[in-house]
Amino acid sequence: MSQRKPYVGGNWKMNTNRNTAAELARGVVDGLRDVSNVDVAVFPPFPYLLAVRAILRDRSSSIKLGAQDCYHKPDGAFTGEVSIEMLKDCGVEVILCGHSERRHVLGETDAVVNEKLRAVLDGGLEAILCVGETLDERIAGHTDPVNQRQVRAALSDVTGDQISRVTIAYEPVWAIGTGKTATPEDAQDVQAKIRKLIAGMYGADTAERMRIMYGGSVKPSNASELFKGTDIDGGLIGGASLKVSEFAPIVRAASAVARGQA
Ligand code: 13P
Repeated sequence: MSQRKPYVGGNWKMNTNRNTAAELARGVVDGLRDVSNVDVAVFPPFPYLLAVRAILRDRSSSIKLGAQDCYHKPDGAFTGEVSIEMLKDCGVEVILCGHSERRHVLGETDAVVNEKLRAVLDGGLEAILCVGETLDERIAGHTDPVNQRQVRAALSDVTGDQISRVTIAYEPVWAIGTGKTATPEDAQDVQAKIRKLIAGMYGADTAERMRIMYGGSVKPSNASELFKGTDIDGGLIGGASLKVSEFAPIVRAASAVARGQA
């Protein structure tokens, strides 16, 4: 971690129901009220966005409301899709683009990720761009080229003004929901290379300011070691974001590392 303010997101994926989403949102807000040196976002399923927004507002929370996906077209005959304006209307501030489950389970290509990312930025919102290699790609020694290709493709035609609203999340596919975490050294190595790529594309100052999160089986027990990496500016948390008793200590770990107290 560095001078950059850490950022921790809770990606609830296709979990929770009306009651448990509200309970989780209340728990996260109340459990993290005293933490001010970490940016926190939650990504509930679409149907619960408004309920979570109401809880964040009622409690005057600075936790950001995020969406797990979007469609890049403004409106029209796209059955089942949700536009960025609709998400803004529901109070969404940040949208995940290119999550590995969207890429590998739902078939999103680099080109689709780029369209969505540009639409999010054109819509004035913040984006978290997720990239990461599969196990086969890692074994074949293609980790860096895969991540570089995904970053370059997603950021194609993203302007120097827009890039300040992009956070990158490095989420190795083999570490997501598997209990296997990249070692802090592995994550740091990949993330330093991503930052170098950003420096080549947008300049050293932009790269220095950009936050790059790590995601993939982050838990209270490994968060601190991961967040100590100089190029690891927090985390995108899946399974452990569904319990306040796990998510709050992860955010606190980021806070402690940022204060130099971990
Ligand atoms: P897990 O923390 O469950 O491995 O999920 C990571 C992730 O995909 C966050 O977006």
